[in-house]
Amino acid sequence: MSRRLMVAGNWKLNKTVDESVALASAVAQNLKRDDLDVLVAPTFVAIHPVAQALAGSPLLVAGQNLYWQDKGAFTAEISGPLLKAAGASHVIIGHSERRQFFAETEKTVNLRVTAALQAGLTPIVCVGETLEEREANQTDGVLESQLAGGLAGLSLEQAAKLIIAYEPVWAIGTGKTASEDQADQAHAAIRAWMGRRFDKAVENSVRILYGGSVKPANAAGLLNREHVDGALVGGASLTAEDFLGIIEAA
Ligand code: PGA
Repeated sequence: MSRRLMVAGNWKLNKTVDESVALASAVAQNLKRDDLDVLVAPTFVAIHPVAQALAGSPLLVAGQNLYWQDKGAFTAEISGPLLKAAGASHVIIGHSERRQFFAETEKTVNLRVTAALQAGLTPIVCVGETLEEREANQTDGVLESQLAGGLAGLSLEQAAKLIIAYEPVWAIGTGKTASEDQADQAHAAIRAWMGRRFDKAVENSVRILYGGSVKPANAAGLLNREHVDGALVGGASLTAEDFLGIIEAA
């Protein structure tokens, strides 16, 4: 089954509003491919202006997180309906930096995934093992428990809407990339788990992005692998040249 590739840029805590609009516009103007999905995830304050600047272009916009309550006395939080109204169609959930620095747990990932789906946003759910876990041969077990917790209670229809990102923690921002085999094997394990937990159709159709030091030079090899359906790019998504280089290589 052929799955449409996605190249997604996670800008993390980078770029002013003006810089964000300029970067998104440069990517949109120089985008030559229409056979894959391209997405950018600016900071919350830049989502609306970026989405406005991209109106009429195929580029998609995502939030980097969301809170699970729609509104109320939750100072500093952002909800699914607000992201959607600002122009986002997707939202990244459970990034390892959220897990590491902001006490994200499988339970809170699960609450966010459910809230995103309710708001009509496509969740990009991140999973990945640490170096310690990989060296102790725990990779598959860690991925399975992150998936089981994060996707608890979801229906088949909900599962069919998900995008998963495999992001080995040891490869994020370190310059160390998982080998093509390591990535493909982890993606195959995630895909098989989705098949066991949901059904064969979800197993075949779910898109699994690889994240962790993806660059123009290593993108082609990774993205050509059977189970790798795209990339979630951090550092290299911060310049139009590198991000477009990854898109061209896909
Ligand atoms: P990186 O980040 O490309 O800078 O390694 C990837 C990510 O965290 O999504």
